[in-house]
Amino acid sequence: MKAPLRLVVVISGRGSNLLAIHQHARPDSYEVAGVISSRADAPGLAYARAQGLTTRVVDSRSYSDRTAYDAALAEAIDAFAPDLIALAGFMRILTEGFVKHYAGRLINIHPSLLPAFPGLDTHRRALEAGVREHGATVHYVTPVVDGGPIIGQARLLVDPKETPAQLAARVLALEHELYPAVLARLAQTRQQDAPA
Ligand code: GAR
Repeated sequence: MKAPLRLVVVISGRGSNLLAIHQHARPDSYEVAGVISSRADAPGLAYARAQGLTTRVVDSRSYSDRTAYDAALAEAIDAFAPDLIALAGFMRILTEGFVKHYAGRLINIHPSLLPAFPGLDTHRRALEAGVREHGATVHYVTPVVDGGPIIGQARLLVDPKETPAQLAARVLALEHELYPAVLARLAQTRQQDAPA
């Protein structure tokens, strides 16, 4: 059996996707090697520490420009020597150089059925557009924000009477199944590619 896929999870806030990812980690699948937060007060960071995970803070407020921030972030990531970097509620736009450096190893979860509703406020926009289906997407990160190749999606039927908050809660529950499932699939593909 090959070693588990080494994952670094990068967060900015609540960390509920981190929690779901961590709860589904298995020795024959993937492991969370480290957690990096762009905010020192992110609730997800407290969870990670309580679980004994190795954490680093790369505080976005300590860097004057995006290039300097991304260089510090890359240094923190590379210290974990990860196979894959999973953005989970990381609320910063990354520079093109950073994204290209990690091409094929950097993935993100987004709360809509991409290519529909890239950007922010996806649930309110989905309700206003009157779509029948909504959901979440895990995709590779490319220089086009929320535009990289799709790895997996989870969908639900929209109730036109629900509020954006209600819809957000239902999509978030889907995210918590989708992200670990995608990671397990990527880990399995890697196992199959490994020499016997
Ligand atoms: C999730 O809904 C995730 O899809 C979204 O932020 C939330 C983070 O929640 N990400 C984006 O909007 C990225 N553009 P969490 O911190 O509880 O995982």
